[in-house]
This record gives sequence, C-alpha cells and structure tokens, in this order.
Amino acid sequence: MKTLITGANKGIGFALAQNLGHRGYEVLVGARNETRGQEAVEKLKAEGINAEFVKVDLDDLNQLTSLSALTDIDLLINNAGISGNIHSDKGHLDMEKSAFDYSSSDLEETIKTNFLGTHAVITELLPHSLTENAKIINITVPVSQEYWMPLAYVTSKAAQNAMTFAFGHQFKKDKSQKQIFAIMPGAVATDLNGAKVGDSPFVKSPEETAQMISKFIFDEKITMLKLLILTEQFMITMNQAYVTK
Ligand SMILES: NC(=O)c1ccc[n+]([C@@H]2O[C@H](COP(=O)([O-])OP(=O)(O)OC[C@H]3O[C@@H](n4cnc5c(N)ncnc54)[C@H](OP(=O)(O)O)[C@@H]3O)[C@@H](O)[C@H]2O)c1
Repeated sequence: MKTLITGANKGIGFALAQNLGHRGYEVLVGARNETRGQEAVEKLKAEGINAEFVKVDLDDLNQLTSLSALTDIDLLINNAGISGNIHSDKGHLDMEKSAFDYSSSDLEETIKTNFLGTHAVITELLPHSLTENAKIINITVPVSQEYWMPLAYVTSKAAQNAMTFAFGHQFKKDKSQKQIFAIMPGAVATDLNGAKVGDSPFVKSPEETAQMISKFIFDEKITMLKLLILTEQFMITMNQAYVTK
C-alpha cells in the first residue's frame, strides 16, 4: 500500500505520515521544500517507516505535472494548505481579522494554493498514478459557521469542498471504484492557527487527529449509520466528516 500525503513535513500531514507508516503504508512525503521534506523522511525512517520525499509545490502548477510519473498510489491525502492570512504579522490564522480586510491578492493567493494547487494534484494523478480503488482524502473545514469566518481561508476551502462533491459525483457517474472524501478534523494545534493543546477543550494534537482520520480511512464499510455515528463523534469535538461516493 502506498500513500502520497501533501504537506507531510509537519503538522497534521506529518502525524498522518507516522500513523499510516506504522500501519504498513509506504509513505511519499509531499513537501514543497526539499530540506524540510528530507528531514521529515529521516524522522520517519528512524521509526522504521518506508518513506520517500516527493516534491509537491501547490503554488507551481508546472512542477505539479511531474506527479503524473508516480504509480500505484492507493491513498492520496490532500493536506497541504495555508491559512490565507499571509500578510498578518501574527504569522498564523487571525480569527479576529475583519472579513472586509482581505485584499484581492490575499484571496487570489489562498485560492491558488488551497484550491487550484489541490485540484492540480488530483488531476495530475488521476489518469495513471492512482490504483483502481484509490481513496482521495481532502483535509478541510466547514465553511458556513457563524463563529469564525476567515474570508480567504474559508473561500478557498469552499471551492475545495465543491470540487470534492463534483469529483465524487463524477466517480459515481463513471462507475469508478475510486472514492473521494472531505474530512473536517476540527481545531488542531499546528502552525496554521498558532493554537496549543489545552487552549480549549476542542483543540487536539496532530497525533490524535491523525488517529481519528486513519480510523475513518480504514473503516471499509462506511454505511450511512456508521457515518452518522462518526459524524456525531466528530461533532463532539466540533468536527465533521462527510463522504461523497
Ligand atoms: N490546524 C487546524 O485546526 C486545521 C483544521 C481543519 C483543517 N486543517 C487543514 O489541515 C491541513 C494541514 O494544516 P496544518 O494545520 O497541519 O498546518 P501546518 O502545520 O501549517 O502545515 C501545513 C503544511 O502545508 C504545507 N504547504 C503550505 N503551502 C504549501 C504549498 N504552496 N505547497 C506545498 N505545501 C504547502 C506546509 O509546508 P511548509 O512547511 O513548506 O510551509 C506544511 O507542510 C490544511 O489543509 C488545513 O487547512 C487544519
């Protein structure tokens, strides 16, 4: 079994690489920066995981064409993403920023990375690189909540979520065995939001999150009932998961 995880050098992506690696997956560590990617590969190898660096730069659509040379990927995890608050001096997602304070270039940059980059990863891999029964997981957020609405981030994720539904419908129409999922893991303590475990009861560690996500991935029989139960569990920690099949 082989997985490609984008943004696997840190945060949720790295925790998923560890979790799936320990479950026997060969892990392709997608990262835009080779040094950071190789550092992650070395850490995984030190834990006995079969890991390899693959360059994935969501901002460089030309670079992403090289992904089409990959083969036999059973599981693609589109995890890489940015908060869309790139001009903030906080350096991470600013929950207090007014929706009116986002410029066109904030929106353009965030949509380019989170939506167009992710779209390109999937479409480069679809023709020849994914196995017949491959699963595609997009790590995302709900986009219609009242308590936080960072405009650039949620706009880019709304586009990504719409793509997940559209591709799911297309797989169904084409009678494809491939599946695509959007997983919304709730608040996780990473560099993206600057949150720490303990900040609130809802903030999880990347490792806990990876465990929840991999439980979802390995549940081979996702019935509506199970999905509801799973969703309920996720909801307890302000999470949601949904499947398009
Ligand atoms: N943290 C949360 O509460 C939370 C909740 C729901 C969903 N998510 C989603 O989970 C995913 C992972 O986020 P995280 O919280 O683990 O954040 P993180 O620790 O900041 O990790 C983000 C990862 O994405 C990579 N990345 C950023 N821009 C990239 C680009 N242009 N090309 C390739 N890789 C790029 C980063 O690489 P560098 O090291 O090179 O920057 C890093 O590996 C994101 O899609 C995020 O939206 C997070």
